[in-house]
Amino acid sequence: MKKVFPEGFLWGGAIAANQCEGGWNQGGKGVSVSDVAKFKDPDIMKDINDVHSFCDITDEEIRQALESNDEKMYPKRHGIDFYNRYKEDIALLAGMGFKVFRLSIAWSRIYPNGDDLQPNEEGLQFYDNVFDECKKYGMEPLVTMSHYEPPLQFCLKYNGWYDRHSIEFFTRYVDTITKRYAQKVKYWLTFNEIDSILRHPFMTGGLIESRFAPAEFESVEYQAMHHQFVASALATKICHENIPGSFVGCMLTKRTIYPYSCRPGDILKAQQEMRAVYAFSDTQVRGEYPAYLLSMYENKGIKLKIGKEDLNIMKAYPVDFVSFSYYSSTCAADDTTNLEIGLENTARGVVNPHVKKNEWGWGIDPIGLRVSMVDLYDRYRKPLFIVENGLGAKDTVEANGSIHDDYRIEYFKQHFLSMHKAIVEDGVKLLGYTSWAPIDLISNSTNQMSKRYGFVYVDLDDYGNGTYKRSKKDSYEWYREVIATNGASILNEEG
Ligand code: BG6
Repeated sequence: MKKVFPEGFLWGGAIAANQCEGGWNQGGKGVSVSDVAKFKDPDIMKDINDVHSFCDITDEEIRQALESNDEKMYPKRHGIDFYNRYKEDIALLAGMGFKVFRLSIAWSRIYPNGDDLQPNEEGLQFYDNVFDECKKYGMEPLVTMSHYEPPLQFCLKYNGWYDRHSIEFFTRYVDTITKRYAQKVKYWLTFNEIDSILRHPFMTGGLIESRFAPAEFESVEYQAMHHQFVASALATKICHENIPGSFVGCMLTKRTIYPYSCRPGDILKAQQEMRAVYAFSDTQVRGEYPAYLLSMYENKGIKLKIGKEDLNIMKAYPVDFVSFSYYSSTCAADDTTNLEIGLENTARGVVNPHVKKNEWGWGIDPIGLRVSMVDLYDRYRKPLFIVENGLGAKDTVEANGSIHDDYRIEYFKQHFLSMHKAIVEDGVKLLGYTSWAPIDLISNSTNQMSKRYGFVYVDLDDYGNGTYKRSKKDSYEWYREVIATNGASILNEEG
């Protein structure tokens, strides 16, 4: 077996504007859905497992948020202040030898209300500066067009992605950014974890659930999803036209759901639950709704409003590659009585007794990464890109300032070994890997800072206290070595 990763393998890390930029009211930026996400003290949270209600919001809560300038209660407003410190941060990432840096553009920095006719020049200039800085170090940007950043006004005025205008507004934004950064960005992703619209409809789709009758909300979600599919296909078209040779990917939460046992009922259940993942990639890769999704609509009486040209557009502009996040795995059983239910990213599933869990209950399963890669590559035969994978953990800063995060090193090491096997033994074509997140930032699901993912530590706590000073954890040097040797440092250790 070859003892390195393929030549030109794109090693790097991934962040998102809403969780790290801050500067929520600087440079002409509009308020986004993430700027009204309130910090809830974990000690008083009723049920951290209930991510849906955790991320849900009412008009009244939004009104209160808009009346407040508080940044501590709304942590994504300050993030890690990447907006003002991007030069220092990019230099730190370059110090690890990053070949690629995944980041998102905040739509609300470019079109503050979503429906504006003219873009905000200051916002455009900011990303010009960021991409120039990447270029200085030879880092390829991989840009997500939408990562939980719909402009808030677009959600309040139009009900977000439920309204068909969303396609027009989003494609205007895509046209602007792909023209502007045509010389600077070659790799693009349309929607981050597009499937998450079913789990946190406000953050992903700008949908305020309490505005709709409970019985109709599922149809609302699927209608919004349809608009995102059409917008994603058009974004792919626009990107290819504005940037010849560009490469556009879909991005999904690669949930990996094992049958709890070999009972046929459990196997069927796992297969059916996996469709909550595949429904999205099947549509974006093959350009048409899968039969099982259409049957589900029919059985549930869901009637989508589909524009005359929508299905042709979806068919004509599928994605070029498949990107995904992978954090953990769970199980499915047809009878869950007496089985423990836990978290898998922002979804829930039967806890797998054979894998360890992180402090937030997410199962740690490196073999599941290989299973995911094989599943996706065998299914689509398109190149893959792992654009999120990492360990959320509480780190301890020693008296001398050092941070010994050997648990994180172990997590990455096992996942890299598994990833390598999928490439070399299973023949999977993997373009690259971006860890989530190379620098600590605000957690998406819990809005906590103490759930840390980085190789770089940021001195900031859950309550917004701290100096924002950056320092290197032990994993920083370890990852630098992995990249410098293209994986040989860990593969040779294995003998
Ligand atoms: C992914 C999201 O689902 O998981 C990221 O794309 C998120 O935005 C990451 O941060 C980790 O989740 P969390 O809730 O620990 O931040």
